[in-house]
Amino acid sequence: MSADNSDTNGNRMDAQRTKEALGIGVATHSLSDFIDTASNDLFDKCGKFASFLADARARGLYQAQYRLTITGPLDHRILVQDPFGSGLREMICFDSNSYLGLHIHPRVLAAVHRALDHAGYGTPSAQLLGGTSRYLRELEETVSNFYGRADTVIFPSGYAANVGSLTALLRPNDLVARDRFAHASIHDGCRWSGASWGRAYDHDDMADLAGLMAQQAPQAKGKLIVTDGIFSMHGRVCNLPELRAIADRYQSKLMIDEAHSLGVLGSSGHGLEEHFGLPGSIDVLMGTFSKAPGAVGGYVTGSTDLVDYLRFFARSCMFTAALPAATCAGLTEAFRIMQEEPEHREQLWVNAQRLWQGLHEVGWLVPPLESPIITAFVGADKLLWATSMELYEAGIKCGNVSFPAVPRGEAILRITANARHTPEEIDRTVAILERIGADYGILGCNAAEIQEIGAALPLSLLERGRDNRQSAAFSALTDTR
Ligand SMILES: Cc1ncc(COP(=O)(O)O)c(C=O)c1O
Repeated sequence: MSADNSDTNGNRMDAQRTKEALGIGVATHSLSDFIDTASNDLFDKCGKFASFLADARARGLYQAQYRLTITGPLDHRILVQDPFGSGLREMICFDSNSYLGLHIHPRVLAAVHRALDHAGYGTPSAQLLGGTSRYLRELEETVSNFYGRADTVIFPSGYAANVGSLTALLRPNDLVARDRFAHASIHDGCRWSGASWGRAYDHDDMADLAGLMAQQAPQAKGKLIVTDGIFSMHGRVCNLPELRAIADRYQSKLMIDEAHSLGVLGSSGHGLEEHFGLPGSIDVLMGTFSKAPGAVGGYVTGSTDLVDYLRFFARSCMFTAALPAATCAGLTEAFRIMQEEPEHREQLWVNAQRLWQGLHEVGWLVPPLESPIITAFVGADKLLWATSMELYEAGIKCGNVSFPAVPRGEAILRITANARHTPEEIDRTVAILERIGADYGILGCNAAEIQEIGAALPLSLLERGRDNRQSAAFSALTDTR
């Protein structure tokens, strides 16, 4: 069955389910409405969520945004299987975390091929048993040297690194304070640790954090402050000097997630400590290999005592298979390139600045540029759906973020620059966003005005793109090259 057929059949069934669902749909619901329902049937929420998805599919919104199938590499340009037709479609992509393009760097690929031929395609054993290949050890050493730390423990993902480390370190009667906008893996790890003291403090609000520590630290046993270095949704940089000062004041340890700062921040890409000129100021330095290094995996680097403890007590490291040797080999090479070829990072910042400047000048509401994650404010979910659809039709792929990833009514387009974007791609994207912003009347508006415009959008507007999609007026990217 072709993708085309399955989609047509799927849409017909979806439309039917939408009717049956009696009012569950994108106009009235968001993901958070399906976390729980009143029913005693365990699967009731799944059925209701299916109705929501059915409505999104019937409008074409789901297909344009979720699970677009990419053929070839996830790069500045991507080829996708058109979910509304049978062919391939080229798009400009601002939805990759490979900030430096290292996932397709020839030196990285060569290192992966060599290890693949030498060690096979998997390392199916836990690290403490048969899973410690020489490639894993080399990667551990490389990361430790990169950060000037004694040792490093590698996890299967960044998510696993946060959850594993937090649940290993924290005990009942300990205190953990986390930024409200920290990554989901930090929230999950803190919750699942069972630490009874602490809470999420208001985003980047050092007064709230200090107040929390003053109130609760005296009663707690161990203390930990944990946050993203660059916040994954908004791209803002955390306040490391103040976090360190507060941690010191209350004899707390400090854990920072460098997922988005590795290879990006600092004069030589070494991350947050280099950016602020505060070497050694992070006690538990965690990161992922899924952003600038361009692959998969997570790590915690620090003292030998800390790392050895995590090797045995972080369950998401101890009770899971090691990263494949070939992945480790590619990552080691990626770390070398980050240090030997600064031009990728330099180009990344040139591109981020051009994109930010363009959006700012045409009147999109974009916060100050702090990282390559640039966000354009759309507020209401309806406006997010509508603008995302328009972007798909214009051949632009970016991230769209709504509650619960951001506060309700504060949806954003998440437009991530990387080193491989060309000036033409950036300018074209800005021009398309200018046209979309003007169509919806949100250029030059503040957040409250944009929210008001979005809330007043008629539901029928979400259909508008579907008609236009059929029209030649929406030029595929390929037509304009
Ligand atoms: C700040 C932050 N931490 C952790 C993670 C999880 O990393 P991974 O994708 O390697 O599991 C992400 C990924 O989105 C992230 O943005």
